[in-house]
Amino acid sequence: MTDKLVIFDTTLRDGEQSPGASMTRDEKLRIARQLERLKVDVIEAGFAASSNGDFEAVKAIAQVIKDSTVCSLARANDRDIGRAADALEGAASARIHTFIATSALHMEKKLRMTPDEVFEQAKLAVRYARSRVGDVEFSPEDGYRSDPDFLCRVIEAVINEGATTINIPDTVGYAVPELYGNFIKNLRERIPNSDKAIWSVHCHNDLGMAVANSLAGVQIGGARQIECTINGLGERAGNCSLEEVVMAVRTRRDYFKLDVGVDISQIVPASRMVSQTTGFVVQPNKAVVGANAFAHASGIHQDGVLKARDTYEIMRAEDVGWSANKIVLGKLSGRNAFKQRLQELGIVMESEAEVNTAFAKFKELADRKSEIFDEDILALVSEEQAGSMTELYSLVSLSQSSETGEKPQATVVFNARGVETMGTSSGNGPVDASLKAIEGHVNSGAELVLYSVNAITSGSTESQGEVTVRLQHSGRVVNGVGADPDIVVASAKAYLSALNKLHSTAERVAAQG
Ligand code: KIV
Ligand code: ZN
Repeated sequence: MTDKLVIFDTTLRDGEQSPGASMTRDEKLRIARQLERLKVDVIEAGFAASSNGDFEAVKAIAQVIKDSTVCSLARANDRDIGRAADALEGAASARIHTFIATSALHMEKKLRMTPDEVFEQAKLAVRYARSRVGDVEFSPEDGYRSDPDFLCRVIEAVINEGATTINIPDTVGYAVPELYGNFIKNLRERIPNSDKAIWSVHCHNDLGMAVANSLAGVQIGGARQIECTINGLGERAGNCSLEEVVMAVRTRRDYFKLDVGVDISQIVPASRMVSQTTGFVVQPNKAVVGANAFAHASGIHQDGVLKARDTYEIMRAEDVGWSANKIVLGKLSGRNAFKQRLQELGIVMESEAEVNTAFAKFKELADRKSEIFDEDILALVSEEQAGSMTELYSLVSLSQSSETGEKPQATVVFNARGVETMGTSSGNGPVDASLKAIEGHVNSGAELVLYSVNAITSGSTESQGEVTVRLQHSGRVVNGVGADPDIVVASAKAYLSALNKLHSTAERVAAQG
C-alpha cells in the first residue's frame, strides 16, 4: 500500500453543481490554473457530455494543464464516454470518471434498470473508457447505500475491465465515519482483485461529516484518494473540503503517516478565487480559510501566542497563504515592486499589457486608499481577469445623494455595448437607486437573487467593500463581483459584471451527476 494520498479536486464538477455556482469556460480555466499551482493530483474539470459549454471548458483545461491529471465525468454510456475522451484529447495526463448508480433505490426508481443490467452497463462502460484512455475511475453512485454483495460483484468486474481507481461515493451524505471506513475495508477485503486499483472516497456534507468520513475511509478503509472541493463547495451542504482534509493530514502526519503533494501556500488564494468567482462567501469561522481561522480575540490567547506561538496555534497562517495582512504597497510604489508582489502572491499574468492594466488600476486604488493590502491586490486582479472576458458593460462614473428623510437618488454613467449611457433613478437606498438606474436602461429583466457585501480586509472602515450580485434569467444564474472602497460603486460594478456574464455568449454550465 502506497503512503501517497491522491488529492482529486472536483470544484469544477461537483462544486459547480451547486445551484448558482455555475461558471463560464474562462472562469473554470482560471480556477484550473490555480488548482495546478496548488499541485492537486487530479482536476475533475467538468462533465463533458452535459453541454457544449462544459465540453469546451474541459477541452480548454485539458490543453493548458500540464502538472495535474485532467478528468471528465461521464455516465456509463458510449456517448458520454466518447465526449469525455474527445474533450480530453491532447491532455498531458487524462482520466475518464464513469459512474452508474448501484443502490436498490436508485436502480429501481431513477434508472429503472435491473441489477443485472447495471452490472453489464458498468462493465461495458469501463471497457470502452479503457479503450480511449489509460486511466479510468469507476464510481457506483450512492455506493454507500448499496448492497455490499452487489457492489463486490460490480467492482470486481470493472477492475477486471481495467478500472484503475474505485471510488465509493456517499452521494447523500448519510455515512458516519466508523461505518463508512469499515464499509470500504470490508469491500477491499472481499474483492479478490481489489489491490489492482486505488480506492477513493467521495463524501457529501449533509450531516457535516464529509471530512471526518473521508478521513475514516482513508484510515480505516485504506483508501488512497480523497475527492474534495475548495471551500467545500458543492450541492446542498457541499463536498469534503480540500483545505480541511489536506491540513488535517499534514498537521497530523504523526497519525495519518501519509504524503500529500499539495502546495499549501496556494490554499488561501484558491479559496478566495473560488469564493469570488461563484459568489459563495466563506464563513468567517471556517477552518483554515475563514477570516477568523487564525484570529485570536481573547486576551489570554493573544498573550499566549505572543509568548510562544504553539500555545494556541497548530498551523501557521502564512503557511496556508494568508499574508500577514501587512501594508505591501502604497501610492509611491513602482511597477517593478507591484510586479514582484504579484509573483510573490502566485499571480500569473499572461502578458506585459495585462500587468500594465493591473498596475494602472492599482495606482487608481492607491490614490483613494492609503494602505494597500495583499487582499486588495488579489481582489483587483480577480476583477481585472474576470472583466477581461466580455466587457459589454462597464462603469464610467457614479454619483448619488442620500439624506435622512429623503429618497436617495443616483446617476450612473456606464458604457453599454460601446455607447456611453446615463441612467438616473431613485430607490430605497443608494445601492437600490444605482442598480435601478442601470437596469432602467439595460432592461435585462433579470431577477436579483443574491446581494452581499463583505469587507476585503478587516479592522478598518477604509477597507474595500466586495459586493456579489447574483442574477437569474430564463433559468440561467450568474454572479458578478465588484470591489471598491465605496460600496455603492462596488455594487454598480458587481451589477454590470453580472450583466456582462448574463449577456455574454460564453455558455455557463451546470453539470448534473
Ligand atoms: O456524489 C456522487 O455520487 C457523485 C458521483 C458522480 C461520483 O458525485
Ligand atoms: Zn458528489
